Amino acid sequence: MLFRTWDQPFDNDGRAEATVAVTDHVGVTHVVVSDHRLVRQVLADPDTFRPDNALDAISPMPVSALRVLTSYGFKLPATLANNGGVSHPAIREITAQALHPARVEALRPWLTGVVRRRVATLAARLRAGESVDLYADLAADLPLLVLAKLVELPDADAAVVKEFSRAALELFWAPLDAPRQLALAETVGRFHTVLRDFAATAGGMVGELRAHTAAAGLPRDTPVGALFFLLVAGQETTSQFLTLLLHRLSGEPAVLDGLARGTVGVDDVVEEGLRLVPPIPTWRRVAARDTELDGLPVRRGASIVLWLARAGLAVAEHPHDFVPGQRGSRRHLAFGAGAHRCVGAQLSRMEAAVVVTETAPLLRDIKVLRAPWCPDNLSFRMPDTFTIHRPTWRNS
Ligand code: HEM
Repeated sequence: MLFRTWDQPFDNDGRAEATVAVTDHVGVTHVVVSDHRLVRQVLADPDTFRPDNALDAISPMPVSALRVLTSYGFKLPATLANNGGVSHPAIREITAQALHPARVEALRPWLTGVVRRRVATLAARLRAGESVDLYADLAADLPLLVLAKLVELPDADAAVVKEFSRAALELFWAPLDAPRQLALAETVGRFHTVLRDFAATAGGMVGELRAHTAAAGLPRDTPVGALFFLLVAGQETTSQFLTLLLHRLSGEPAVLDGLARGTVGVDDVVEEGLRLVPPIPTWRRVAARDTELDGLPVRRGASIVLWLARAGLAVAEHPHDFVPGQRGSRRHLAFGAGAHRCVGAQLSRMEAAVVVTETAPLLRDIKVLRAPWCPDNLSFRMPDTFTIHRPTWRNS
């Protein structure tokens, strides 16, 4: 169940469910927490439940893959999500300034133009009888384009960055065999050298991180570590979310009608999407001391898997139904909580609102040819495609 949590059945109100469960993967025990109150409790107590294991490979890497990473000088010092130390607040602040809500909001008109043009092209293709893939043709590279406006990024092809970031999500969070780990380590290691060279001279946020690293005596690779995380979690998650949300909306005609008539607010749609199809269904912590969770003893060093997606279900009045604005809709934990709460939340909400506003009319007249499929993964959905077409009677 650890690697396909989104497929797990859930009873209607969630009351009968165990709040804490234990599961194993390759000899390691994971304590899975699904209850909203308990997940919040863990997130709010970083002294007992540290974030240090956030980027640990869930499938231990064989020596051959580690050698490949070492040969590329790959290092991931504690910077953001995996940083439970005293250096975290200042690194987070520099990142948060780059992603400041005012800077994000200023991009809305530009992004609206980009999405509108893309959607117009897709609509024309649909009218011509073609099928379109809303992942590849719309959602995949948008968040990367947006991120590049906020943060100076290496001058690499979007396809290369996507290949690297998806390889990283697989290498660190998927159940894998050794040959696959070796291949992925090659892709991740190679791009890490690009990031390292770039981080040595880049300006903007990366330049500020470099200056702070020198002034505070932090490990030299600190700016690379932060950039690595932003590239994998910051843009990949949002394109996953856009794809999953558009797919969900394609099966919600009442919501699409409400958007068209103006009786449903797009921000409420985005929140309900974050609650029902979050791109990060689980996130980890590690117990810093012996403790307990709802009566279950938890040993120091135990891996805690916070089932964010499940925690967001039972808090809503209609747990499974897509009801924008319903009571509890905004109580989801898709962005985590506490000291490490997602600093890109505003950014991804703005992107999703623009994409839903511009794309919803397109979704009213289509048939789904291929729903997104997500490979086994602990923490990321990684949908592969979302293909639609327009039935011919609509074109006549
Ligand atoms: C729908 C899209 C996204 C979701 C669901 C999401 C979710 C999350 C989650 C669950 C965490 C861990 C929170 C915790 O440990 O309490 C996190 C952390 C983080 N996210 Fe996001 N994220 C998204 C988009 C973004 C974007 C667009 C960016 C930036 C471009 C971003 C940057 C970060 C950073 C830097 C952290 C680490 C914060 C820290 O440790 O202080 N995320 N995100």
